Amino acid sequence: MTLAVLASGRGSNLAALLDAFPGDVRLVISDKPDAAALDRAREAGITAAHVPFPKGGRATFEAQVQALLDTHGVTLVLLAGFMRLLSADFTGRWRGRILNIHPSLLPAFPGLHAQQQALDAGAAWSGCTVHFVDAGMDTGDIILQKRVPVLRSDTADTLAARILTAEHEAYPQAVRLVRAGLAFPRPTPDDLRAEFGDQAPPHASVRQVRAARLLQQWGRPEAVPAVLAGAPHPVAALALATDDLRLAWTTDAPLNERHATWADRAPLRARAQALHLAEEFDAAVHVTAHEWERTTL
Ligand code: GAR
Repeated sequence: MTLAVLASGRGSNLAALLDAFPGDVRLVISDKPDAAALDRAREAGITAAHVPFPKGGRATFEAQVQALLDTHGVTLVLLAGFMRLLSADFTGRWRGRILNIHPSLLPAFPGLHAQQQALDAGAAWSGCTVHFVDAGMDTGDIILQKRVPVLRSDTADTLAARILTAEHEAYPQAVRLVRAGLAFPRPTPDDLRAEFGDQAPPHASVRQVRAARLLQQWGRPEAVPAVLAGAPHPVAALALATDDLRLAWTTDAPLNERHATWADRAPLRARAQALHLAEEFDAAVHVTAHEWERTTL
């Protein structure tokens, strides 16, 4: 994947992305001429472009950004501290290929000053969210969240620093999920029909679609209608459980709860063996085992 990062400020998430994906970030764009993110990009030898965002000039800004993305063959756009709303036209063109990170557990505390909003609300926990971008303010489908405690002694700055550490882990993880085809926006009825034909129900969750794809990889297409319809079926149930297991590390649940989910893999593997799917099960879990270890050990 060829990545572009849009940033308005300091660029610490950009730095985390550069570390995680050396050579893949080809373009950094900022609406602010003096953004530190542009300096970071130049230091890393990456094209750094200032594109002004004049008052009432969003269409011009987006046209210039689109031209740069095309020129550099970008396939995934990452907003990292980019503080502007993009149009439905632009975000629709990039649907499923444009991500943002936000310093709260959305849908709580969208918009500006998310950390101060958490303090003002007396929240015991906050964190960060990586989500697909649509035309709303921090409203797109969520990819993953990380939770951090809010301490009684916190100021907005100390809370922001704790959240930022979580952001630097979360953003690369979310990108890896998208790259692996495990994260995508909630499917529309048209998406479902295009992928699964006339047998597709009008609505299915991202989790059901991931499980349906697993079943196809496993050579068990007969269980696909059951998994999409939520009907009981032993192989469909295994695919759903395997999907939960491989994504357990992406939740904002406490570590002991995630460990408990991960510990379930022994009985699940036994079930897979009974259904002659042990190898397929191992391969599916392997996709995220490395990520699990990075995150939790
Ligand atoms: C990060 O905390 C990011 O979540 C936030 O701006 C900061 C950018 O830091 N983004 C938003 O609030 C978007 N609504 P960085 O420039 O060091 O990556």
